[in-house]
Amino acid sequence: MKQPIGIIGAMKVEVDAILAGMESKREELHGGMTFTQGTLAGVPCVVSQCSPGKVNAALCAQAMADFFSPRLVLNIGVAGGIGENVHIGDVVIATACVQYDFDTTALDGCPIGEMSLPGAEAPLREIPCDEALAKVLAAASEKLYGHAHLGVVATGDRFVADPQFGEWLQKEFGALACEMEGGAIAHACLVNHVPCVVLRTISDNAHDSETVDFVTFAQDSARKAQELLKTVITQL
Ligand code: ADE
Repeated sequence: MKQPIGIIGAMKVEVDAILAGMESKREELHGGMTFTQGTLAGVPCVVSQCSPGKVNAALCAQAMADFFSPRLVLNIGVAGGIGENVHIGDVVIATACVQYDFDTTALDGCPIGEMSLPGAEAPLREIPCDEALAKVLAAASEKLYGHAHLGVVATGDRFVADPQFGEWLQKEFGALACEMEGGAIAHACLVNHVPCVVLRTISDNAHDSETVDFVTFAQDSARKAQELLKTVITQL
């Protein structure tokens, strides 16, 4: 059988519609995570909900690479929007991810986010995502919704609800969105030579200490990422 497309979302709301749309499903458990194999629009896929955070996400991506040999991995879900131009409901597709909470500055003077990856020749700050895949998703998003942002997604083990922190992410990394998994999935994929793309829909403005806008918009935003994926999957 053709190598599957791997799809990872952190929360139930981020993968539910994908799972519901799949056919010929069968489940396997690895590292406490369920991997559902099947087809989506006739395309072989393997889908997993990793739970929030970088370590969970990296474990999931590694297990996917080890047990299912995906031809590419897509991370879908919601994110906090950064900057004036990124609004709730917008789609952001990563050209690269940064892990903004990786910090060895005090030890070696390296800029925050710069890290050595196993097997890589030089340290990296921006972990690249697959450019061609990102462009296909952006084109589909523009067709479906009239817009798409392509740029840096900032990943860290923190739900950002602080305007100053969002400004720092923008200034320091040029980030368009913040979330908690993309950078770790891109990291694991790069190490395993698996093309990766991160597709996020903006659920909140990363500003409010009350996360009321997150709760309100997460479901709709997650649905949008899923809808977009379903329309584009045959082109990937
Ligand atoms: N996922 C959705 N919104 C987020 C935020 N503001 N910070 C981190 N992850 C998120």
